[in-house]
Amino acid sequence: MLTARIAVLASGGGTNLQALLDAQGGVLQSGAISLVVADKPGIGAIGRAQAAGVGCAVIPRREPGFEETVLQALAEHRIDMAVLAGFLGILTADFIRRFGKPVINIHPSLIPAFCGKGFYGLKVHQAALDYGVKVTGATVHYVNEVPDGGEILLQRAVDILPGDTPEALQRRVMEQAEWILLPQAAELVAAQIVREKENTL
Ligand code: GAR
Repeated sequence: MLTARIAVLASGGGTNLQALLDAQGGVLQSGAISLVVADKPGIGAIGRAQAAGVGCAVIPRREPGFEETVLQALAEHRIDMAVLAGFLGILTADFIRRFGKPVINIHPSLIPAFCGKGFYGLKVHQAALDYGVKVTGATVHYVNEVPDGGEILLQRAVDILPGDTPEALQRRVMEQAEWILLPQAAELVAAQIVREKENTL
């Protein structure tokens, strides 16, 4: 069966990467995780890739030529789509244009709330708590030239509870939204890619 070759870009612990790895053959039927790009040495995502037997390129984001090197790795591995799973950098419009294939991102809020430049990781949950919203959640969207601004694929709401800390809220949003949504969204995009591949046979 044809599958879409997926690259996952990560900057941290890699729990969303793990959700994708675990979904292969289940929710994620149409895609295979074929490459992990870690943007820092020593991050948790590297060990998760290794444990799953998936090749991992460590490409430090702060070094010159980061995007060029990532584009080369994506081309070498014949990647059909990229998933930003806890990737904390902002890719340039030039990168998106040159890759020319779908890129999706998971963001830990209900876009358009608490998103854009400067909203990442725990800062997003801190902002939601500071504002006093009673519901937050997660969003998977296509990546375009506007940070967190591309077309929305899936969203899921999560209640904020009295006494929540940013850490407690982050964990609940991951468990109740992110780890469910990201494999579902990856499948939607991968299935579309597979349909296009089948049509060109
Ligand atoms: C996740 O909550 C993800 O949504 C968020 O960083 C965390 C990474 O966790 N991403 C962003 O804030 C992107 N703007 P993980 O490394 O365990 O997947």
